[in-house]
Amino acid sequence: MSVAVIGGTGIDQLAGLSATREQQLETPFGAPSGAIEVGAIDGVPVLFLQRHGKPRSLPPHRINYRANLWALRELGAAAVVAINAVGGIHEACEPGTLVVPDQLIDYTWGREHTVDEGGAVPIRHVDFTEPYDPALRRALLMAAQESAIACRDGGVLGVTQGPRLETAAEIQRLRRDGCDLVGMTGMPEAALARELGLPYASLCMVVNAAPGLDNEPLTLEAMGDVLAREAGSAAALLRAFLTA
Ligand code: HPA
Repeated sequence: MSVAVIGGTGIDQLAGLSATREQQLETPFGAPSGAIEVGAIDGVPVLFLQRHGKPRSLPPHRINYRANLWALRELGAAAVVAINAVGGIHEACEPGTLVVPDQLIDYTWGREHTVDEGGAVPIRHVDFTEPYDPALRRALLMAAQESAIACRDGGVLGVTQGPRLETAAEIQRLRRDGCDLVGMTGMPEAALARELGLPYASLCMVVNAAPGLDNEPLTLEAMGDVLAREAGSAAALLRAFLTA
């Protein structure tokens, strides 16, 4: 059994991962975003998949989330840690902050969002009251604490359709809805993991203030600078978590 890590924007490699092989896999839902790296970090079996593909070619609405989760389970994932670059809405979630969210609101549409296609199998309604696995969240937060990496416990992630960024009014609406963070890839990933019985948690890296919340122009360059710094902390946190 391995821990699977799904890399988001800015995380194309997993620091410390010695990959023994790359596994290409077909699933009943088609091909995942790319080859899955099968290896270990400090002796702990790890699977790594970059959700946007390598080289980066899949926008959030084109990612085959179903194939990704299915393939990770097929390769023996016991749990999935997702890394997400996000915008910050809550004032405590300023650029550079790491957050392990505890709730989400799904604003996406038109994405293949379930592995349940009806037919002969009984209809299921999976419990999604707590979208993230509490034990996995705690383990991530504990690893952060033990390695003195600042990481915020809890927050509501609003998941938008993208690939465009939100309008200022959309962010105000998300804020009124109770969202602390905004990203584009948190769903349907989390729900599919639940359907497939995979404990799932997200580590969010805040790379910008959400649109309209500060006067800085939103540029990929600015996001990239924050991301480059934050990716190091995220990687250190993951390593601490995996080897705890
Ligand atoms: N909005 C949506 N997704 C994002 C953002 C944002 O501001 N930043 C990084 N991913």
